[in-house]
Amino acid sequence: MPWRGVFQRYVLKCPVTEAGVSRRTYTHEASLYVHWPYCLKRCSYCNFNKYIPRSVDHVLMTQSLQRETQTLLHISQVSCITSVFFGGGTPSLAQPSTIAAVLETVSKHAQFSANAEVTLEVNPTPAGKARLRDFVAAGVNRFSIGMQSLNDSSLRVLGRDHSPQEALQTLSEARTLCPGRVSVDVMFGLPDQSEDSWQSELEEVLSVCDDHVSLYQLTLERGTHLFKQVQLGEVHVPGDDVTATMYKTARNILKKAGFLQYEVSNFARNNAVSTHNIGYWKAQQYIGVGPGAHGRFVPHSLQGVLREARTQTLEPDVWIREVQQHGHATRRQIQLSHLELLEEVLVMGLRMNEGISHQHWAEFSPEANLHQVFGVSEDFQQLQQRGHLILDDGGLRCSWEGLALLDSILPMLLLRLEMFFKKPAASAATAGRTHGQRKR
Ligand SMILES: C[S@@+](CC[C@H](N)C(=O)[O-])C[C@H]1O[C@@H](n2cnc3c(N)ncnc32)[C@H](O)[C@@H]1O
Ligand code: SF4
Repeated sequence: MPWRGVFQRYVLKCPVTEAGVSRRTYTHEASLYVHWPYCLKRCSYCNFNKYIPRSVDHVLMTQSLQRETQTLLHISQVSCITSVFFGGGTPSLAQPSTIAAVLETVSKHAQFSANAEVTLEVNPTPAGKARLRDFVAAGVNRFSIGMQSLNDSSLRVLGRDHSPQEALQTLSEARTLCPGRVSVDVMFGLPDQSEDSWQSELEEVLSVCDDHVSLYQLTLERGTHLFKQVQLGEVHVPGDDVTATMYKTARNILKKAGFLQYEVSNFARNNAVSTHNIGYWKAQQYIGVGPGAHGRFVPHSLQGVLREARTQTLEPDVWIREVQQHGHATRRQIQLSHLELLEEVLVMGLRMNEGISHQHWAEFSPEANLHQVFGVSEDFQQLQQRGHLILDDGGLRCSWEGLALLDSILPMLLLRLEMFFKKPAASAATAGRTHGQRKR
């Protein structure tokens, strides 16, 4: 495979985690997210942190991304990077030398784990297309293509600057360069989309796609052009019952085509799962570099186990200035409490079909297991009886039906978690005894 040879120059295997070390105290590993904030054009539905500049100073951006990567690696206790994701914005508009420079910086100040996944989000615009080969030469070994739709009029109402043909061409090129490691983003619930048109569109996508599909239900974001158009009645979007059916249909079609739904919105065959995203869902540490990027890691200064949620400055020019002055542009830095960390473990973990194993939960909550925290609650037992949630030797997870209802299930679980960890010491001790009797 072409990507292996090129990437080999960065790969130095990270030290293996010592057996028995809890994930909470195991702070030398993380994934890296790098945000490229620029786009060619504003899509009508998008409220991501992106800017449409007249020109981009690629040299300055490269230097700033390198500097912030280096600083955050030093601030953290991270010596091993398990995956890198270049997202945006439109990172396929960055120069391949920028991608190479950031990877080079990582390899100077940390190690990569063996075969670390390096993903680049690609917009199928003519401007980004010609460079896919150069991105592979820079160290990218996985592409995530923002196809969104194969319907011309949907692409127009979404304000996309590419045609279905351009998306197909980019996909085919990416598949040639990174076979088995190309994902497509597809949206549903689009203006004027019917259940039938969605079904045939998805079937068309499946006839051309590689081994990974991410499905996104359109969210009407306040402040976007599309939101206004829908408010004014100029554009019509399908109702909730229709989008629920669309999601159900898509899951069945993807299943028939041999795709495993490994997360609420993500489907893979031939085990082509995204290890970077699995890191988020398993609440592993990640470092976020670039304007508006988010991170979750334990900094050196805390000399302990408390994780911080960090957000970098949003606006690129201000971000660059702050990186020049301080080496990084962390705008917000909040220490996560034990309860907040467990909330993340729960909310993210239940998005995966495999859910949260007992071992995974124990890494974050050695003091109380899943049975103690959730199993005794009546509401929880009702959800189990309805077949939406499963708690057994494999851990806690949603059933196939439950995964589609996760948003309505989570509030009860979060409440239960909060009640458990905020309860007075006396009742916690009682719960401990109940737990003891279970012999778990
Ligand atoms: C962060 S965006 C950036 C990707 C890339 N710039 C592009 O547009 O193809 C990643 C994905 O989020 C999804 N997305 C963005 N805004 C959305 C919205 N309002 N509703 C649903 N999905 C959205 C799109 O499918 C998109 O591919
Ligand atoms: S959807 Fe992607 S390309 Fe469009 S404005 Fe948002 S980040 Fe940029």
